[in-house]
Amino acid sequence: MRAVGLHRYLPINHPESLLDLELPEPTPGPRDLRVRVRAVAVNPVDVKVRAPKPKVEDPPRVLGWDAAGVVEAVGADVSAFRPGDQVFYAGSIARPGSNAEVHLVDERLAARMPQSLGFADAAALPLTSLTAWEGLFERLGVDRDGRDAGRAVLVIGGAGGVGSMVVQLAKAAGLRVVATASREESRAWARDLGADLLVDHRAPLRPQLEAAGLQHVELIFNTQSTEAWWDTMADLVAPLGRIVGIVETSGPLDLGKLKSKSASFAWELMFTRALYETPDMAAQREILARVAAWVDEGRLRTTRREHLGPINAANLRAAHARIESGQAVGKVVLEGWG
Ligand SMILES: NC(=O)c1ccc[n+]([C@@H]2O[C@H](COP(=O)([O-])OP(=O)(O)OC[C@H]3O[C@@H](n4cnc5c(N)ncnc54)[C@H](OP(=O)(O)O)[C@@H]3O)[C@@H](O)[C@H]2O)c1
Repeated sequence: MRAVGLHRYLPINHPESLLDLELPEPTPGPRDLRVRVRAVAVNPVDVKVRAPKPKVEDPPRVLGWDAAGVVEAVGADVSAFRPGDQVFYAGSIARPGSNAEVHLVDERLAARMPQSLGFADAAALPLTSLTAWEGLFERLGVDRDGRDAGRAVLVIGGAGGVGSMVVQLAKAAGLRVVATASREESRAWARDLGADLLVDHRAPLRPQLEAAGLQHVELIFNTQSTEAWWDTMADLVAPLGRIVGIVETSGPLDLGKLKSKSASFAWELMFTRALYETPDMAAQREILARVAAWVDEGRLRTTRREHLGPINAANLRAAHARIESGQAVGKVVLEGWG
């Protein structure tokens, strides 16, 4: 099968940072779906995994944790899918990625694609939707059926891959969404997705929020550097408020800054369920199925912004470079093999 992977961890402008490869097709385990991959999206996790380091992979390492495709075979214990199903999923960071013509995913991590979307639009969604859903509805405790309507959430990085889904899910739950974006393009995108108020993360947030009548915000979803935003979040979070962070830190966080407000901080890692095979691992199938249903009902839309052509090393290098710029708006996808 065709695949794109790496032997060495190199800067993205190096022609061998991602390579076109021919690899043996994998054999599904009992709970696996064997999927013929039709489209993939690229996320910062690909860039982080690919970060230059003195290590050599043999066999090569395949990246990619967002895919849409067609089930062509199922393991002996699979009960929820059958060949021919069109699925979308992020999969597991502990397994080879989806930048391969044929890919394996545990059935508990995949769901049927939205019926109203093609493969490219569907591939844009899984990883960021899982992160946004788990962060908003599980870590921040927002009621997805609207019982928290009217409460304010601050989404730091509101136009990026994750932010684009947080903004939409928060709106679907009835929240008042304050999103940060620093450029005209990203502001327009976040506004279009439903953000009620845009603030600029390149300028101090407090004066901008106060100008809009907000002294504090009850809920903060930070999609960007946890460390860089820590003091600002501690200042802006309301007494008894909640913060969720998704970006790893290089040192400890000063939780003491939240003490007087009895505010809480929670981590969200969308790979946790897959990594630890938690008893509720199949919750990710449920989440993706709900996302698909909400898309088909018109409550959510794809966050695909750019289609970079077929899945090959050159196009994936371009997609990685786009993510590395730190100015991604929505999602970048690739579709088909060529
Ligand atoms: N824990 C998890 O499960 C999980 C899951 C997904 C992603 N992540 C991590 O979350 C981070 C974001 O992922 P993503 O896919 O959303 O990234 P992304 O799409 O690459 O984010 C790009 C956006 O970040 C905004 N941005 C850039 N600098 C910023 C700053 N200093 N403050 C606020 N916003 C800023 C940009 O807005 P402007 O262009 O307007 O400046 C741009 O729209 C990455 O580090 C990723 O690895 C973690």
